[in-house]
Amino acid sequence: MKTITVNASKKYDVIIGAGLLESAAELIKKAVSGKTAFVISDDNVFPLYGNRLILSLQKGGYKTYSYVFKSGESSKNLTTYSSILEKMCESGITRSDFVIALGGGVTGDLAGFTAATYQRGIDFIQLPTSLLAAVDSSVGGKTGVDLKSGKNQVGCFCQPSLVICDTELLSTLNEAEYENGCAEIIKYAVLGNKDLFDSIKALPVKEQYEEVIAECVNMKRHFVEADEFDGGLRMMLNLGHTIGHAVETLSKYKTAHGRAVAMGLCAIARAALKKGYISKSDVEEIINLVLKYNLPAEIPYKAAELESIMMNDKKGKGDYISLVVPEQIGKCSLIKTNKSDLLDWLKGGGIE
Ligand SMILES: NC(=O)c1ccc[n+]([C@@H]2O[C@H](COP(=O)([O-])OP(=O)(O)OC[C@H]3O[C@@H](n4cnc5c(N)ncnc54)[C@H](O)[C@@H]3O)[C@@H](O)[C@H]2O)c1
Ligand SMILES: [Zn+2]
Repeated sequence: MKTITVNASKKYDVIIGAGLLESAAELIKKAVSGKTAFVISDDNVFPLYGNRLILSLQKGGYKTYSYVFKSGESSKNLTTYSSILEKMCESGITRSDFVIALGGGVTGDLAGFTAATYQRGIDFIQLPTSLLAAVDSSVGGKTGVDLKSGKNQVGCFCQPSLVICDTELLSTLNEAEYENGCAEIIKYAVLGNKDLFDSIKALPVKEQYEEVIAECVNMKRHFVEADEFDGGLRMMLNLGHTIGHAVETLSKYKTAHGRAVAMGLCAIARAALKKGYISKSDVEEIINLVLKYNLPAEIPYKAAELESIMMNDKKGKGDYISLVVPEQIGKCSLIKTNKSDLLDWLKGGGIE
């Protein structure tokens, strides 16, 4: 078992280990004082782990309620959000109770936002069950839902009170979801952890979940503590994402996030080579690791198509765009680039 303490506006522990679900109640008791838990989960995860969690909570003396929604990004919206709030009200949840998010990133974002806004905010606990949620979304306090006009357009920063990552729960993930999570792990390794890169090259992620997740959470902790509200340094976590998001948009979200990030990472690595930031052998190593995890290294769109999406990105301010550029495996820099040079970067990334 490993514990990482995040010292953000709220201080909380991220506990990672095999078999933690059964002792959830004891861990929760140390983190929040409420006596009633409102569990939010999706219809893939709840049938697998919901009863075990509820049993553990009841044994620990907690009163429990649950809300199960249809799995998938399409549920991360204001309709589900408002129906959870209604159910919480009907169940008599008060400000001294707490929410548990049992699931992947969709559940975490939705449940976090619900908890952050219900009666002006109640405690919430993340119990990530997807690899992506374990290494990324359960830590850092970004919560929210999508609008028809865009992803994560409504939300707030609100840190959880505790994160419990039971690595045994990851055993039921399908290959595609496993690979998606691996893309984020490769991103962390290239961003700032050469040892992690070497270890996931030598041994599959699934054979060393506890160590790998702890390394990633520790890196995320560093960026969150330095820049909780995403004003600068936290942008480094966007390695592979700037181009990756454009790929997701062009695919109308048919391309999974992790696969798009893998493509974006390979493209920016190739562009960095073309511009003299990184060595050829490091770029080859990055691409080989991406392929080893069955992730794509080539972007099936034209540079001009990607450029037009990136130019219109609502988050990009003014004439510049910040690119996270790899310089070595384990070292990246934020390069402020004039938008007029974007096409050149994309073409340098081997995209026609
Ligand atoms: N808040 C943040 O900082 C942050 C960061 C990255 C991504 N996100 C968000 O996270 C979401 C993506 O997360 P995700 O990939 O976990 O999506 P998800 O929650 O939809 O989970 C992916 C799929 O795996 C299933 N699943 C989850 N755990 C399982 C398990 N243990 N066994 C079997 N099936 C399981 C889910 O039911 C779902 O079908 C997006 O909405 C994204 O915007 C948020
Ligand atoms: Zn991501």
